[in-house]
Amino acid sequence: MYVCICKGITDKQVAQHVLNDGAGSIRELKQHLDISSQCGTCTKVIQKVINDTIIDEGLFKEVC
Ligand code: FES
Repeated sequence: MYVCICKGITDKQVAQHVLNDGAGSIRELKQHLDISSQCGTCTKVIQKVINDTIIDEGLFKEVC
């Protein structure tokens, strides 16, 4: 699903950078993706994807 329409960035791309590069905030993610740089409408959705990815990863580590 597209989370940033202006730049054509998907939730999977965001999650990948959270998991692979350790990006835990919009500011850190901006070092890897050109997000939230035009209208800014995507900021809240992207933050939710970051949070959900971190929570999911935390649960995964506890199980294993
Ligand atoms: S939707 Fe992301 S900058 Fe506009």
